[in-house]
Amino acid sequence: MDFFNSLDLKDVGLVVAFLVLSGYLIKSNKAKSNDGGSEKVKINIKEKSEFKTKGKSDKINVEAVREDFDWLTEKPLKSYPFKDSEYKLTMGIKFLEAKDWLLIEDTYLDRINEKTRIVTNSHPDYAPDKDLRRSTVFTSEEGNSAIREFYDIVTKYMCDKYPMYFIKSEDQIYNKITEEYIPATSEGVDDPESLLIALTRTIEEDFIILLPDPTKKDEPYGTEYFFKAGVFAFAAGFDPIEKFNQPLTCIHGPIPGYEEKLKTSMNRFFDRLKPGEFVSRSNFSIQTHKKLYVDDANKGYHLTQEELDRPIPYEDLDFDNQVHYRSERQVLIKMPKTKATVFTIRTYLHPLSQLKEDPEVAARLSGTLLKFPDDMARYKNIVQPRPAVLRYLSEISKA
Ligand code: HEM
Repeated sequence: MDFFNSLDLKDVGLVVAFLVLSGYLIKSNKAKSNDGGSEKVKINIKEKSEFKTKGKSDKINVEAVREDFDWLTEKPLKSYPFKDSEYKLTMGIKFLEAKDWLLIEDTYLDRINEKTRIVTNSHPDYAPDKDLRRSTVFTSEEGNSAIREFYDIVTKYMCDKYPMYFIKSEDQIYNKITEEYIPATSEGVDDPESLLIALTRTIEEDFIILLPDPTKKDEPYGTEYFFKAGVFAFAAGFDPIEKFNQPLTCIHGPIPGYEEKLKTSMNRFFDRLKPGEFVSRSNFSIQTHKKLYVDDANKGYHLTQEELDRPIPYEDLDFDNQVHYRSERQVLIKMPKTKATVFTIRTYLHPLSQLKEDPEVAARLSGTLLKFPDDMARYKNIVQPRPAVLRYLSEISKA
């Protein structure tokens, strides 16, 4: 059933109305909005034995969270993946346990509503003629079975882990936080895009589905994994449509040193990942605004030397409201049936001023920013704000 066929709605309220008309009873959001543990492993790509599975079976089994779990009091993880030392371009991956994959924290409702505004072209912060839907929601013939498999895995995971918020009946699942219903399984839903939209109302994470593409095997990088479907709503400095249907090396094209330092390990890693394993990596950056979808900022490789030589004055930056710390917690899984790899991305974004509560983190961030290699500093767009940011971090880490 096409309960979400082609949404071009003006706001979340209309989305809700659309769902009601489509047979999925949605009540208004009464829930009040306020707006991991992992083991580091070294993966030796040459020694297969070192890359052994941590998952015991293909099935994703997750226990329910404690009975008194309350999403409104669940503080976001502190995602500060940096050391006071020079930044090195490495895979930086860790194994995770199944229970730490998809999370509900106190940002849940705000973030999925923000995502809905983006994917329905109804966000007031972007030009009305900007087609964000086209840039963020992706399906392909080759990716459709994997979308279905992912839908069934995610909905089962959320029902098993958060039984107090996801209540399954024969043909639908009731989400107690959004007060909405989504289909119980992908079976019987004709349009895979509607499954993607239902997932954006269910998990805070973006998700990218990757598959090999045998039709491209004779093209450059044609034996790699390709981005074939998913939702990339919180893009940090690129237009996701330019990454769609591309192999991993082209997706990572702007990253200085990717081909020499990461390409080989990355491709072997994708080939060897097994169903039942959860692998995560995290990144971080600083941005001078609070947008979650950004295609025209956050990266600095397009800046001229003249621009790079012009630092942003301290007085021009609003550290309490505009300058933000951003970090992505990325998790990779391989699905047992379609063998597609899925990359889920959970975005943490908070004002830099929040680090006043964590002076040790502020000092460590200052150390890493100071020692950033020039090419990466430019790529991450920290060259211009860096002097002002360092001054601010020094003030708050001493306070
Ligand atoms: C273990 C797997 C992966 C590793 C080690 C990795 C590594 C990186 C690194 C080092 C960067 C630079 C920014 C940062 O520090 O994060 C980056 C950026 C990026 N990655 Fe990955 N990545 C991985 C998987 C993926 C996958 C599966 C996708 C799927 C689409 C992806 C999409 C991107 C994109 C879109 C960017 C930004 C590129 C740009 O600036 O235009 N990455 N990745």
